[in-house]
Amino acid sequence: MKGIAVSTTVNGDAVEYVCHGRETLLDVLRNHLGLTGAKEGCGTGDCGACSVTLDGELVCSCLVLGAEVEGRTVETIEGMADGDKLHPLQKRFLDGAALQCGICTPGFLIAAKALLDRNNNPSESEIRYALAGNLCRCTGYDKIVRAVSAAAGDMRRQQKAQARRRATR
Ligand code: FES
Ligand code: FES
Repeated sequence: MKGIAVSTTVNGDAVEYVCHGRETLLDVLRNHLGLTGAKEGCGTGDCGACSVTLDGELVCSCLVLGAEVEGRTVETIEGMADGDKLHPLQKRFLDGAALQCGICTPGFLIAAKALLDRNNNPSESEIRYALAGNLCRCTGYDKIVRAVSAAAGDMRRQQKAQARRRATR
């Protein structure tokens, strides 16, 4: 079968690969690019374990073809930390024990980040609604919701501190 050449941006890096027409973005990330953070839980768009953002929008990478991301921007869990510095969401998930087996965790983190990037002060209902497409069979969800709420508070404090620093320059 003839391959399809794709040029795209993944976690800020220009990336090129050749995939077959039926390979999903999840296949490409895991099997061509070595980015194994996104997981295949169902392969049918029901569990959210494969969540990534595509041009800033949350998507199930199992439902996107690898060839569809030509010229677009993909963000995966591997791009969330800033070097050794964890994102506030990652830190709060760890501190709050908001994971057990961890299979669902990259998807929850990506979905939560997509929420906090557009709403830095979500209510509990808004958090639960935003994460409704992500399934976890271990934690019972409450710790996850608390971790997202705490991370939102951290991010608001960081944003205020940055604004103060800019104002005093
Ligand atoms: S593997 Fe994509 S939604 Fe479950
Ligand atoms: S921590 Fe195991 S599925 Fe969520």
